[in-house]
Amino acid sequence: MKHIFKQGTDLTNTTLLLLHGTGGSEEDLLPLAERIDPKANVLSVRGNISENGLSRYFKRLRPGVFDEEDLKVRTHELNDFLDEAADEYGFDRKQIVAIGYSNGANIAGSLLFHYSDALTGAVLHHPMVPLRGLQLPDLSKTPVFIGAGKNDSICPSEESEELKQLLSEAGADVTLHWENHGHQLTGTEIDAAANWYRKQKNRLG
Ligand code: MLT
Repeated sequence: MKHIFKQGTDLTNTTLLLLHGTGGSEEDLLPLAERIDPKANVLSVRGNISENGLSRYFKRLRPGVFDEEDLKVRTHELNDFLDEAADEYGFDRKQIVAIGYSNGANIAGSLLFHYSDALTGAVLHHPMVPLRGLQLPDLSKTPVFIGAGKNDSICPSEESEELKQLLSEAGADVTLHWENHGHQLTGTEIDAAANWYRKQKNRLG
């Protein structure tokens, strides 16, 4: 997969996996990684799907309706890519924290729905419920931050609550942060994610 890897101060430290929104690129979220953890390694990946020239991580049938078979295939493809990238660059495969926005948050959510050990934590900005009817793996070691907008027409607030519930039922420690905005990513939401991340880091020592 097309990507950028930036080594941080210590390869054995956290690697931030950056996943952009529809129409974005692997450059988009680099400033977020800098805000969240400037010392971390960064692996920023571009989605493999092109929807009329807009990069995404999986196909959709129409806005808000996912091609579930493709989503499953792409989720496994991304997980395999994480294995390969860890081998190639020498970072710790067991220390990956995803930071995803919108479509990128949805594929990160799908990684959580499929694997107990793909990610050690996740920051999901404006995610939806990626799939329904799945038996989720044990996520008791995987803290999750969800940033949501009360007026988000793409991710209705009930869906943010539903996602929180599904992840919590799988054992994840979920923080749901609300903004009085729509689908956009605001500075206050990024600050809340950065505070959450620092708390998780302190807890892990
Ligand atoms: C998706 O397709 O993943 C969501 O609708 C978010 C987006 O618009 O990309």
